[in-house]
Amino acid sequence: MTNCINHFSTFIYSLLIVIFVLSCNSGEEPMTGGEMMFDLVPPSGIEISAVSETSFRVEWNRVEGAEYYEVTVARDMQLDDGVVPYIDLRENGLGINVINLQSSTTYYVSIRSVINGEESSLSNPAEVTTLSEPDPEPDTALKDVATTFAMGMAVRSSWLTGQHDAVLRREYNSLTAEFEMKMNIMYPSEGRFDFSRVDAIVDYAEANDMHVHGHALIWHAATPDWVENFSGTDEEFEEMVEDYIKTTVSRYQGRVRSWDVVNEAFDDGSGNLRNTVFLRRMGSDYIEKCYRWTREADPDVLIFYNDYNMVIDDTKRGAAVAMIDDFIARDVPVDGFGFQMHISYQGPSKSKIASTAKEITDRGLLLHFSELDIRANPNNNISSLSEERAELQKAKYKEVTEVYNSIPDQSKFALTIWGMRDNESWLLDFWGHIDWPLLYDEQFNIKKAHTGILEGLE
Ligand code: XIL
Repeated sequence: MTNCINHFSTFIYSLLIVIFVLSCNSGEEPMTGGEMMFDLVPPSGIEISAVSETSFRVEWNRVEGAEYYEVTVARDMQLDDGVVPYIDLRENGLGINVINLQSSTTYYVSIRSVINGEESSLSNPAEVTTLSEPDPEPDTALKDVATTFAMGMAVRSSWLTGQHDAVLRREYNSLTAEFEMKMNIMYPSEGRFDFSRVDAIVDYAEANDMHVHGHALIWHAATPDWVENFSGTDEEFEEMVEDYIKTTVSRYQGRVRSWDVVNEAFDDGSGNLRNTVFLRRMGSDYIEKCYRWTREADPDVLIFYNDYNMVIDDTKRGAAVAMIDDFIARDVPVDGFGFQMHISYQGPSKSKIASTAKEITDRGLLLHFSELDIRANPNNNISSLSEERAELQKAKYKEVTEVYNSIPDQSKFALTIWGMRDNESWLLDFWGHIDWPLLYDEQFNIKKAHTGILEGLE
């Protein structure tokens, strides 16, 4: 019996303790959320990351029971000078990106929790300073520094006004039409030439004291359909090509300084002649014929052969150089050789560029680096141009320029960049992903790549 009473009093005693503890917890601070009770406190663990010139990210720890948070970003620690829209900005998650800020500026971030419609106090402000704007790249004009050869740019007739025009006139003294001096544009249908866009480019160049490099009379990838499917005999085909070349070259005699007469005539790897309608209809000496017609139409124009992968494809380059050697030996007119130079920051190496360039200059030919662009994202593994990649790209632009600048003066002709702004580069479509291969960004800002060329000319 005594035992029974003892057990009962222990039970009552424990019950009283539980009631006491529960009543202590229902003081003023804690909130009840239905059945639950939460501390009305601001979030802890506020962390700032990804700080840039104009933005940063802020994240915080979850507060038990918080329905949402209110984030305030201000220019002062007292949070009086708030940054719109980050004043009590409501956020359900545990982080936000704060954007559109000023560079080199200190900001304070404070956050409160809202629990059951009630606001906690504000957290202690976290402090962050945005990065400073990088020093602008020097705007020294390329043509003023390249004194022994022309600085060229690929252009479109739609680029001859506005900001493009300003950059062209400041920096360049040679123009290549990016696509408007190709056969599909100049000779769109049988018997009907259309030189309107060429005229615009040539007039512009003349008005601004610039050379025009003609590109390209014959190119398999810009052959109009009516030529691909030419209905006449082979003899008529050849007459048509002769007429096209002579009409075009003589029209611009004395105004176009040079022509890529045939572009990309050899297959990759094997160095065989590419199987084009010109080869099939005119025979394996079609290139020589085109060169002779060009010379007949303009005795002073400079005649170029132009191709890609000339640094890395030894077999293809070997075939092209062998053709040129044969032309020189037999007095077929040829003056120069174009290395397109669509390359990447990873290669080819400076020494390989130099040794292959020497093969051309040793023959006393003009050498044109004719379509230079340097991919910064060949493996598609970055989504914006990083500082590191921009530096590596700049280094490659510098190397290419150093090589070109140190070839013998009598072989110097032009260094031509294939496009103005990154977002306009043909490579974006060609490879189907983002890259930044050129000297200006979309806002016409001068990139480090441009400085690389300047340094290569020092
Ligand atoms: C490209 C142009 O950049 C594009 O605008 C056009 O649509 C296709 O041709 N080799 C050449 C250049 O010789 O003519 C090519 O230019 C790029 C590859």
